[in-house]
Amino acid sequence: MNVVPGFAYVRTVRYVAMPTAVGCARREAVQCLRDWGMAHLIETTELLVSELVTNAVNATGGITTRTPRYTELRRLRSVVLQLRVEDDALRVSVWDSDPGPPMLRRPGPDAEGGRGLYLVDMISRRWGHYRPAGTGKVVWCELALDAA
Ligand SMILES: Nc1ncnc2c1ncn2[C@@H]1O[C@H](COP(=O)(O)OP(=O)(O)OP(=O)(O)O)[C@@H](O)[C@H]1O
Ligand SMILES: [Mg+2]
Repeated sequence: MNVVPGFAYVRTVRYVAMPTAVGCARREAVQCLRDWGMAHLIETTELLVSELVTNAVNATGGITTRTPRYTELRRLRSVVLQLRVEDDALRVSVWDSDPGPPMLRRPGPDAEGGRGLYLVDMISRRWGHYRPAGTGKVVWCELALDAA
């Protein structure tokens, strides 16, 4: 996989914070990695994007259905996906407007939820979160560019 020197490997997309954002973000990631010649990272990145964007939408609240009523639109919020190549890693970052931190759980076999970040923790090289200037927070994770 050849990273072209000087090329800005950054893609940033804002979505309305509702369940349909998850599929849109996944498709964007697939297209982006194809454009960048990083098809070998597609499956893993799709999973990471799914988990982080789903969490961001859930944390945002507001619109929770795929077909909101007109009156629900006043609760419109957004989430932001960014894919960026930094040195030898692909970094997936997701911003949402909720200030609360993500919390890694250790789900038991019968637990219904709490697996998303556990998966992110297992699959990514490292992950974390920070509070950017302004509102909300960013949850991010990294994959090595030469990951299988
Ligand atoms: N973007 C976020 N903003 C605020 N809290 C978050 C965010 N992401 C995760 N969390 C918190 O961390 C917990 C663990 O997230 P995780 O994705 O592992 O599980 P889940 O979303 O509850 O369930 P699952 O992903 O298995 O459907 C969440 O229940 C939530 O409390
Ligand atoms: Mg989750």
